[in-house]
Amino acid sequence: MLEFDAARRGKTLVLGHRGADGYAPENTMVSFEKGLECGADLLELDIHLSADGEIVVMHDADVSRTTDGSGSIERKTLAEIKKLDAGAKFGEKFRGERVPTLRELLDWSRDKIPLVIEIKGDPFPAVGIEEKLVAMLRDYGLVGESMAISFHHSSLVKIKKLEPALATGILCFGEFVDFVGAARAALADSVRPGWQYWSAEAVQAVSDAGLVPSTWNADDETVMGRMVPMGIASIGSNYPDRLRAYVDKAGKGMHSH
Ligand code: G3P
Ligand code: CA
Repeated sequence: MLEFDAARRGKTLVLGHRGADGYAPENTMVSFEKGLECGADLLELDIHLSADGEIVVMHDADVSRTTDGSGSIERKTLAEIKKLDAGAKFGEKFRGERVPTLRELLDWSRDKIPLVIEIKGDPFPAVGIEEKLVAMLRDYGLVGESMAISFHHSSLVKIKKLEPALATGILCFGEFVDFVGAARAALADSVRPGWQYWSAEAVQAVSDAGLVPSTWNADDETVMGRMVPMGIASIGSNYPDRLRAYVDKAGKGMHSH
């Protein structure tokens, strides 16, 4: 997984948040294509299980904010989910965009860009989502290139027990007393609090422990200016082109010197 190398070298990877959420309807194929076009190194996305057991790509547990439907995504079949319009609420020109399955996204991304896959739930991850995710990444031969992240740390414990080679990262919108200890408790490889909760000392402690420091979202120069010099291994952005330009100018990109 690219993030390990970035962490060792004090470099920063650009992680397109929900694709390129600032430019296109989040978690749709057009958003992932835009993220790649913006120069992201990795793409972040959110997953749930449909009622009939397919892994579908959506942030919220309820479809009403981002689509023309309503109700819990986990209570809809894939056929019902596929009828939803996931583009028009963002902009008329995106009308007709559909909610992708993870399989559709992997078919497109596999030769292009690695994925950081966030396990969501309603409110907890659906039973069996971890097994399905591991099986799918094995099918595609992408276990070593991908990462599973979550606010649900016990879900990451399950993943690590199922497939130790799949990198995992703990999310938290808040402070860790012990960044390294929190990751160890979840058997995780990466520590990912919101950007407000990082300090230079914490980045150092996490990197020294061989773990990957990451965060989200850096959309403006204030946040970029605080996060990029610390050597955070990956940073999410809704405008990945802005972060790409900043990281490269600062000489922190994986290919800059
Ligand atoms: O990459 C982590 C970040 O996406 C977590 O927050 O609400 O955007 O899924 P959220
Ligand atoms: Ca997310």
